[in-house]
Amino acid sequence: MGDTHAMHTHTCGELTAEHIGSEVTLTGWVWRRRDHGGLIFVDLRDRAGVTQISFDPEHSGGTAFHAAETIRSEWPIKVTGTVRRRPEGMENAKLATGDIEVLISDIEVLNRSRTPPFQIEDHIEAGEDIRLRYRYLDIRRPKMMSNLKLRSDFTFAIRDALHRRAFMEVETPSLFKSTPEGARDFLVPSRIQPGHFYALPQSPQLLKQLLMVGGVERYYQVAKCFRDEDLRADRQPEFTQVDIEMSFVEQDDVMAELEDVLKDAFAAMGVDMPTPLRRLSYWDAMETYGIDKPDTRYGMHLVDVTDIFKESSFKVFASAANAEGSVVKCINAKGAGSWARAKIDKLEPVARELGAKGLAWIAFREDGSVNSPIVKFFSDEEMAALRERTEVEPGDLVMFAAGPRLESCEILGGMRCHMADALDVPREGHDFLWVVDFPLFHWDEDRKAYAAEHQPFTQPVEDDLGRLDTDPLSVGSRTYDFVMDGFEAGGGGMRIHNAELQERILEKLGFTPEGAREQFGFLMDALEFGAPPMGGFALGLDRVCMLLAGADSIREVMAFPKTSSGSDMMSEAPSPVSARQLKEVSLRTL
Ligand code: AMO
Ligand code: AMP
Repeated sequence: MGDTHAMHTHTCGELTAEHIGSEVTLTGWVWRRRDHGGLIFVDLRDRAGVTQISFDPEHSGGTAFHAAETIRSEWPIKVTGTVRRRPEGMENAKLATGDIEVLISDIEVLNRSRTPPFQIEDHIEAGEDIRLRYRYLDIRRPKMMSNLKLRSDFTFAIRDALHRRAFMEVETPSLFKSTPEGARDFLVPSRIQPGHFYALPQSPQLLKQLLMVGGVERYYQVAKCFRDEDLRADRQPEFTQVDIEMSFVEQDDVMAELEDVLKDAFAAMGVDMPTPLRRLSYWDAMETYGIDKPDTRYGMHLVDVTDIFKESSFKVFASAANAEGSVVKCINAKGAGSWARAKIDKLEPVARELGAKGLAWIAFREDGSVNSPIVKFFSDEEMAALRERTEVEPGDLVMFAAGPRLESCEILGGMRCHMADALDVPREGHDFLWVVDFPLFHWDEDRKAYAAEHQPFTQPVEDDLGRLDTDPLSVGSRTYDFVMDGFEAGGGGMRIHNAELQERILEKLGFTPEGAREQFGFLMDALEFGAPPMGGFALGLDRVCMLLAGADSIREVMAFPKTSSGSDMMSEAPSPVSARQLKEVSLRTL
């Protein structure tokens, strides 16, 4: 077991019928304790499992038995005794140690415990706040323990896979300058230089590019990243990436290498990732799934019906069908066609939340009838064409979005996810793919400026460069996202290694030459000193572990996560600091 330097001879997870008759010493926490007609049974728990130990007043003078009468839940104890077969009918097939118990002759109480604020059980769902406030107790739950173990195993496996392929782990600083990835920076004031700040890196992006200029050639790092953004189930303000970069490579080399690394790491977890991975272009993903991180384990594809409604007397559809850049699209949610009207009506607010102006729908009832607020406007031909295009059967609910192309796709993409959950569509096994060829920019309506779709150092598609000034939104990028089970589990791209091109791109993003110099001068300098072609990737370690563990939040695979308001419930960080500490860093709070 590799844990020879310990107070015990065995863990609580390993004794079986093979050990019957041996004397063993175990340590662990008192989990469940039962008094049974003069005998005391205790489930003793450590990180490896549970073993039933028993205390008999007739055994070895009864001293161990009398001590056992005083012990309570969650006390750590050390016990010595003899392994014996459980009496017939008392076996527990669900437990690895279920055939045996240990009859105790000697017990040492190592400490006492207050009564825990919640039971240390997997299925007792204490509120998350209390679990986080006493996280060390929460971690004693077998499920949390196995999640942490899974994370450790996967991290080890991917490090191993990278190391075997001659990748070198290099640490990069956390106190650095802003490395933009689209979120706000966390700032750290400097004491020695009043009024100056470090920014915690949103990723090691710039640093790994500098390592490539430095000739490291194959780099990786299990790196902490810091992003001040609104938190969700799959987002934390500090999280971990397996960050990777390679130089003297083409895009296909990088992607093939990444596939090999990921395949090995997943294989170590008993998960087969078939390679080569399927590649879906960003636009195909948007057109078919309405999202750039599709879960392709189920269908419910977006169907374009624009051509069907060009002449329609339903104005909403006809005007979208005839407007430049607009579409009429729909999805067919099988099974929802038999929903009651009231339940269907609850879908429109969901669509509005996603930005829709409304949600037209048609319910094809099981009895062959059709229920819908809009079919009265449809001609027989339109209805027939629609039925054919969407392969309608009784019990189907068809939902529409009419309007600008990308917006309509995104609305239906959101509805597709919503319906998959609402209908409990089966999603078995894991689903892996690349989404490639993202646009270089998107238009940021709030800032009224172009923003980098991935990050500002991404290489544009050379053939599109001619349109950089005339039609920037049509310029593609050399990027790839790794999508797993409908989550963006990783992302990367080829980098600009030419200083002039980098300057042009930063200018498009709204940086003045002086502003660009001030923020990224060190990068521009480096690009002028023989930067090699390079590309890389970062895997969202928390997200991948969440999916491997079958958890529904990355908090379940992090030892000490923060709540949605960014607080640590145990230490109560963030918290006020003393006036003296503020003065030392030349700060005053408002
Ligand atoms: P990106 O910003 O796509 O790329 O991040 C890479 C991966 O990190 C994960 N991730 C997060 N996980 C938890 N909480 C967060 N707040 C969070 N934000 C991101 C996602 C994501 O796919 N430097 C580039 C990588 C590169 O180009 O090489 C980068 O950081 O799974
Ligand atoms: P109206 O003609 O506005 O009463 O809309 C008729 C139906 O079409 C309603 O069910 C609306 O929710 C729906 N609807 C309105 N605008 C759109 C749109 N852009 N895309 C899809 N459905 C819409």
